[in-house]
Amino acid sequence: MNTKEQVLQFLEENRGIHVSGTDIAEQLGVSRTAVWKSIRKLREEGLTIEAATNRGYRLAGSQDPLTKQGVASYLTRVNPEHLEVHREIDSTNNRAKALAVEGAPHGTLIIADAQTQGRGRLGRNFLSPSGSGIYMSLIIRPETDLSEALLITTATAVAAVRAIRKLTGEEAGIKWVNDVYLGEKKICGILTEAVTNFETGLVESVVVGIGINCIRPAWPDTMENPPEIPDKMGWIFDPETNPPTVSRNQLAAAIADEILFLCEDLRNPSILEEYRTYSIMLGKKITCIRGQERFQARALDINEQGGLMIRLPDGTETVLLSGEISIRW
Ligand code: BTN
Repeated sequence: MNTKEQVLQFLEENRGIHVSGTDIAEQLGVSRTAVWKSIRKLREEGLTIEAATNRGYRLAGSQDPLTKQGVASYLTRVNPEHLEVHREIDSTNNRAKALAVEGAPHGTLIIADAQTQGRGRLGRNFLSPSGSGIYMSLIIRPETDLSEALLITTATAVAAVRAIRKLTGEEAGIKWVNDVYLGEKKICGILTEAVTNFETGLVESVVVGIGINCIRPAWPDTMENPPEIPDKMGWIFDPETNPPTVSRNQLAAAIADEILFLCEDLRNPSILEEYRTYSIMLGKKITCIRGQERFQARALDINEQGGLMIRLPDGTETVLLSGEISIRW
């Protein structure tokens, strides 16, 4: 880590408190001039670092930058050596897949503040504006076989809900198969992609991509064509009515660590049990969408494979292993 990165980590760890240039220099074992130069570079990169006479520096409270140092300071399982944080990227899943092909290890984590080509399931776009969400992808190399791939998605949904509930206190829930909701609004989507070895043709790793809508973005009034927000899209926080209580750095680290933890024992039945307790559609009337086909049903339960058990209007029961549902709230 260079001095600039160390200074940023120090400021992150002391968020909310003023720290003097002398203290930073002493703690990091560098000169005060080196600290000052680092602060200047960080400001040039767009960070707002406040300076108060006789009290020192601190990261401005209202900003919530996603930074490598910030995420690294919270990580407990992911190795920060295998962490990349980008200001903007086409898609973190694309980057993670490219790294996986090059042999990047299990647990490699790619995060971006904004994506220009964020991808959702079924070929959809995933709106990824700057300063609002967390767009991240994790490379998973399951130790056994890839039949566990489906369980990785299930575990990721559980991990996201666990972290969001723990850090924000918000009662997030899961809509089958892997969307995270707050009330009737989707706040997080998951896209799992397999990475194949070109020579052997075998699936060698899985990239799990998670998009979390954290803070509702305010499109400038002057913006000519603000993006169209889908009806069901929501955010965990709203700057006006429900300001953020946790940084994106902390939330990103908690979700990634939780996924790695659950991936250590993917076949543990308690993961599916937890998934069931978070499920928001069990017992509800739903519309099932399979290709062009749409039909009504009642959601009954989640089976051992993560399939959705449903009852059709004529009383027959069946299991959906893939597809989309919408809840008739
Ligand atoms: C969905 O809801 O359809 C899935 C959305 C997945 C979005 C995430 S954001 C990080 C990663 N990179 C992508 O391009 N997509 C996933």
